[in-house]
Amino acid sequence: MKPSIESAGDSFPREERVLPRHVGIIMDGNGRWAKQRGLPRSLGHRAGAINFKKIARYGSSIGLEYMTVYAFSTENWKRPEEEVGALMVLFKQYLKDALRDFLKERIKIHFLGDTSVFSPDLRELIQETEEAAKQQEGMILNIAMNYGGRSEIVHAVRQLARQVQEGSLSPRDIDEEALSSHLYTAGQPDPDLIIRPSGEYRTSNFMLWQAAYAEYIIMEDILWPDFTPEHLEWALDEYARRNRRFGGI
Ligand code: FPP
Repeated sequence: MKPSIESAGDSFPREERVLPRHVGIIMDGNGRWAKQRGLPRSLGHRAGAINFKKIARYGSSIGLEYMTVYAFSTENWKRPEEEVGALMVLFKQYLKDALRDFLKERIKIHFLGDTSVFSPDLRELIQETEEAAKQQEGMILNIAMNYGGRSEIVHAVRQLARQVQEGSLSPRDIDEEALSSHLYTAGQPDPDLIIRPSGEYRTSNFMLWQAAYAEYIIMEDILWPDFTPEHLEWALDEYARRNRRFGGI
């Protein structure tokens, strides 16, 4: 799928377009972006982090209600220590920035994933960010960090099992809604649209449960650091053209 930036938005007058309530983004391609420029991968992640702020603010400015970005998966710990270390430094720096800048835009940050494994200073920052979010009323920005769709489901199932063991829940009452209410996204609508730049056709363990009926848009020629608001607009137009049937006709 090749977005034509020039034509972004041409086919749909903005006021008639149906916007997704919740957009997920797999911020892929930082490594390749750096390699193309002969730079270390960590600089690709830095460029990706700068772009994360730009796209989140743009999404908020056009009225998206929820945005979820995949920042660090449960599998990303397998990367070389140096790269993981560089990412942790970036998380600290950009969360501090986001905490300051997003306040003005009323963006409400929420974390998806097991954040208990991070260093004490990063955990403190995460807590501070979530605390500040309580005062916000704007777009909910989920940052998935040490997140995996499978481990999220296991985590939810464990909570349900504990309730059954304690006698506060009957196995008969375990249904889709009950499980959803124990996911990190509890109370939020499922993503309507998931965008993946950099041309990989896989889910990479991202929102496995919630993405059951999400529309996917894979953008082949764009690496995450180069992804612009115009690319997002193009994806939103493409989404508006889709005929969602949710298994019906
Ligand atoms: C995938 O690209 C990207 C990541 C594993 C890291 C994404 C993180 C950021 C953009 C920083 C966000 C910062 C905050 C504060 C949320 P890749 O490394 O797999 O790229 P490649 O496939 O080209 O190697």
